[in-house]
Amino acid sequence: MIVLGIESSCDETSASIVKDNRIISNIIYSQEVHSKFGGVVPEVASREHQKNITFVVDKAIKEANIDINMIDAIAVTYGAGLKGALLVGLNFAKGMSIALDIPYIGINHLEGHLFSNITDNSNLNYPFISLIVSGGHTQIWKVDSIGNYTLLANTVDDAAGEAFDKGARLLGLGYPGGPEIQKVSDGGDPNFIEFPRPTVKNNKFNFSFSGLKTALMYKIKNMDDSYKSNNIHHIASSYQEAIVDSLLDRIKKISIEYKISDISIAGGVAANTRFRFKADQLSSKLNLNIYFPPMKLCTDNAGMIAMAGYEKISNNVFSNFDLEANPNLSL
Ligand code: KG4
Ligand code: ZN
Repeated sequence: MIVLGIESSCDETSASIVKDNRIISNIIYSQEVHSKFGGVVPEVASREHQKNITFVVDKAIKEANIDINMIDAIAVTYGAGLKGALLVGLNFAKGMSIALDIPYIGINHLEGHLFSNITDNSNLNYPFISLIVSGGHTQIWKVDSIGNYTLLANTVDDAAGEAFDKGARLLGLGYPGGPEIQKVSDGGDPNFIEFPRPTVKNNKFNFSFSGLKTALMYKIKNMDDSYKSNNIHHIASSYQEAIVDSLLDRIKKISIEYKISDISIAGGVAANTRFRFKADQLSSKLNLNIYFPPMKLCTDNAGMIAMAGYEKISNNVFSNFDLEANPNLSL
């Protein structure tokens, strides 16, 4: 069976071909136009998707070396995300479905992220813990089986990726902030500034990142420019460390509380090399199996959407044409 996946929930226009449960092509067009605004501008994102989606889908089909008529079904993200951005992918998928006379299915973006590890790390055993950590989400789920998820932790304010993005902006770095902070942190001292590791009252598993951004703002407020620029690698590294430590602290607590040793990390922040390094240390210390997706499947991509779709389509689950884009869709 051949499935075409389409993803357009935020600022990546992506299309992928999955054949017999394997990703054959995965084209990702990242909209760099947003970097000059320091964040994603929804209206600009929709227009960019509209401009590029035909080319991206065509390229995914060509790279997979198949004919368009060989596609059996389409999987497309219908939430969560930016409404106008989602509509581009969803309507394109509906149009293709009618034109080719094949079924389509709407996929939850978060479930897509979850599949970025189910596919490439088949060693994951159920039940496992899944941390989805991106620009819009920081959630920990207990996964008992595909489709059977329980939310264990959430952020009460900013997502971890958002903390990277906002921190980078305060430091005068580019967007997206995560890769920028990671790059600048190279060789920096992670203990140069003692940033807080915020906890949340009444829920020891939940996350809070907004105080961290405020702490950074106050720390650099009275620094003179030359001191700041000479120590930027130390400041960025300390800030990155605080985010990474918060994530690993909750993983540790939850794995102990639920006695689950298989952990899956997914989403854009899973690309962070310091996070991967410290997760490795934690795995050895606590005897955990922590799985990260390949780099290409960390940030938003249609490969993970096509894989999630493949699973559902194999079980004859499809969507109707009245399916609407849902910006606040939860798992
Ligand atoms: O999953 P994703 O591509 O889009 C959302 O669904 O949000 O995640 C994007 C987020 C951004 O906040 C970006 O700064 C962060 O992931 N990110 C990183 C890294 N690469 C991307 N954060 C830390 N380190 C990275 N290397
Ligand atoms: Zn995402």
